Amino acid sequence: MFMMALNSSPRKTWNTATLLQKALEGAAAQGADTELIHLYDLQYGVCRSCFACKTKGGPSYGRCATQDDLTPILARVRGVDGLFLGSPIYYGTVSGMMKSFLERLAFPYWTYTDPPQSLFPKRIPAGLIYTMNVTEDLAKDFGYGTQFAVNEGMLRVVFGAAESLLSCDTYQFEDYSTVVATRFDPERKAKRRREVFPHDCEKAYAMGVRFATVGTSF
Ligand SMILES: Cc1cc2nc3c(=O)[nH]c(=O)nc-3n(C[C@H](O)[C@H](O)[C@H](O)COP(=O)(O)O)c2cc1C
Repeated sequence: MFMMALNSSPRKTWNTATLLQKALEGAAAQGADTELIHLYDLQYGVCRSCFACKTKGGPSYGRCATQDDLTPILARVRGVDGLFLGSPIYYGTVSGMMKSFLERLAFPYWTYTDPPQSLFPKRIPAGLIYTMNVTEDLAKDFGYGTQFAVNEGMLRVVFGAAESLLSCDTYQFEDYSTVVATRFDPERKAKRRREVFPHDCEKAYAMGVRFATVGTSF
């Protein structure tokens, strides 16, 4: 069993990466081999709407024809037994790197049939892990749930199962006293980091355990 995590924060040891690491630890505890890939290490572009992935009898049918650093990663995704996709929320949605990744990952497998079907070769669980500054209540008020539902629905069609984990009100800066960020109360943020973030880590770990246990048998 092989589980892959993709981090679309530029920060390799912060909130998003930590939660992904926990999910992989959970999967590894069930015997899975794991790998964490930092998308910001790669040079890749967006979906160019070339439709090579949808061209009848074409050499790239069901695959992304764009050749760049994402090409080998997308090829390896075909062999995974579970995926964890982690993103910070940037202006109300996933980071640009994750948006581009999702387009390139999902669209080639997504058929323009009614209903849409998947060309992905097997059924695997996919987990979306989001981290954000806002509280749970503000995330609701800002309507972030709509974005999360779209991503989850897309991955459910492509991979068979998808779920989301939200880590809210994250600790963002090494030292709040060095940045202009009067909106945040550093002590309250630090308290949240101490008291709530560990539970988010537990939830990520549990997701990893669950994915490795369930595998493709859901
Ligand atoms: C460019 C940028 C835009 C952001 N926009 C939002 C936002 O719209 N909503 C939010 O809740 N947090 C926002 N944040 C905060 C991050 O989502 C949050 O700190 C996240 O946990 C960072 O993840 P990381 O620690 O893994 O890098 C933004 C951060 C950056 C750098």
